[in-house]
Amino acid sequence: MSAEIFEKVKQIIAEIESATPQTKEEVEAFRIQYLGTKNQIKPLMGEMRNIPNEEKKAYGQLVNQAKSVAEAKFNALKERAESAADEATAGDIDLTAPAVVEELGSRHPISVTQNKIIDIFGRIGFKVAEDREIEDDWHNFSAMNTPEDHPARDMQDTFYLKDSTSMLLRTHTSSVQARTMKYQKPPIRIIAPGRVYRNETISARAHCQFHQVEGLYVDENVSFADMKQTLLYFAQEMYGPQTKIRLRPSYFPFTEPSAEMDVSCFICDTKGCNVCKYTGWVEIMGCGMVDPKVLENCDIDSEKYTGFAFGMGIERQAMMLYKITDIRLLFENDVRFLKQFTSAI
Ligand code: DAH
Repeated sequence: MSAEIFEKVKQIIAEIESATPQTKEEVEAFRIQYLGTKNQIKPLMGEMRNIPNEEKKAYGQLVNQAKSVAEAKFNALKERAESAADEATAGDIDLTAPAVVEELGSRHPISVTQNKIIDIFGRIGFKVAEDREIEDDWHNFSAMNTPEDHPARDMQDTFYLKDSTSMLLRTHTSSVQARTMKYQKPPIRIIAPGRVYRNETISARAHCQFHQVEGLYVDENVSFADMKQTLLYFAQEMYGPQTKIRLRPSYFPFTEPSAEMDVSCFICDTKGCNVCKYTGWVEIMGCGMVDPKVLENCDIDSEKYTGFAFGMGIERQAMMLYKITDIRLLFENDVRFLKQFTSAI
């Protein structure tokens, strides 16, 4: 009697081993038959009670063997099915199809111009100093010799933060002069690029946000002649070696004396064209000797140290370099416009 049952188990094992399910459905049928909840191996365990004690162990082992043979076979079948599926999809890849073109961005003309300016001054030892756009009244105005009742405050229409009389969006990068001088001591040689804000009506020539680069040099014995030579070097590097500069007397609260600098029009070489409005010259920056009061406001001894400073709008330079006639194009981020600019820096 028990020999018969042993035989039955062995037969099932043989069946499992020789089974060759091919399709997904056949594999699933195999699983249900030998490993499902109502599989054929389970009832064999129930036969245990009909097995004499001395054979129980061997019987149990045989039934377990049936189970593990079924499991191993099923796992092998599953693996084969999965790699076949992989192969099927691999077959779908068209290796001759053209690759998807990666769109490469280009630098914004403002960044290109700014990098150019930083690079030119970097070569003569000016280090980049960047600082906050939300500034306090002191660094933007008072330290720069523009106290509250000073009429020069009207020169720049300021955006104040909501409900604040002291926090504002910086109106110029000159605030970085105060930040630097207050917290570093001479010699100071910095170039400070960044965004500035003014409450101006937006037009082809003006915007309420734009960019400036500020320069500051403070040391012993810094003279107006040093400033002039430095700015001539800059103008010739920026606009070509034939460029001439001209300094016109001007007024800024933080410099004394103050000047505005023009460069000879690099389009018409002073003959007159519509870029220079037929004057032959284009104004590009304000500059001057740092007012001793500004040095003192920032705890720098004005008896010992002197310095020069300058500030220029980047949009202005970019518009000249690339002959852009409307400043708004620089803020619209229209890719058809931006795609025209390429640069290594
Ligand atoms: N801060 C001035 C402006 O926004 C520009 C300027 C003029 C900066 C003269 C300077 C300077 O450092 O010396 O119009």
